[in-house]
Amino acid sequence: MRAFIAIELPKDIKAGLSKIQEELKAESLKIEPPSISWVKPQNLHLTLKFLGDIPAEQLKEIKQIISETTKTISGFRLRLEAAGFFPNLQTARIIWVGANQPPPELKQLAQQLEARLVKSGMPQEERDFRPHITIGRIKNRLNSFDLEKILDKLEKNITGSNWEFNCGEITLFESTLGPGGPAYTVLDQCNLKIT
Ligand code: 2AM
Repeated sequence: MRAFIAIELPKDIKAGLSKIQEELKAESLKIEPPSISWVKPQNLHLTLKFLGDIPAEQLKEIKQIISETTKTISGFRLRLEAAGFFPNLQTARIIWVGANQPPPELKQLAQQLEARLVKSGMPQEERDFRPHITIGRIKNRLNSFDLEKILDKLEKNITGSNWEFNCGEITLFESTLGPGGPAYTVLDQCNLKIT
């Protein structure tokens, strides 16, 4: 099964991001339809570790690792104050919202999960952890003028209101790929330490 570990977003944050997506969609349709696929609001999340295809027998061990890790790290508040494109403006593929200066607990969470999973035999992630919520995926290449217009609208929305929420638990999701996009199912949830 295909799985990943993530921070689930509160309903109001998903609803707010969905409104932003609608605005950006209207903007992007003026440009060159249909070149962006927007992540369904119910699927919005912040990935801590993408596990890929794992055998069902490995689930117990992964759940154990999540449980051990969450026992040592406190819950935290996360403020979404940044937005942009990955990998960069020239070759933008992902439209994201996130934090430029995330709380240390968020990095510790990703690092400790990574370390324990690698110790148990999982392949190591080559890329640095850059906490983000993917809101859209760019299918065709867009020119930087159009991308800047989208980014401008996105940044105004993100800096214009308070995008802050409590992260008190982490979630193990199964991802099932289908013609209508992926469907995510919760396999496990563990609370972070209460301080
Ligand atoms: P992304 O949103 O930055 O693309 C579930 O697929 C989640 O795992 C997505 O949020 C995705 O991050 C992340 N992920 C990381 N590496 C991935 C990979 N190689 N394939 C698919 N998803 C990946």
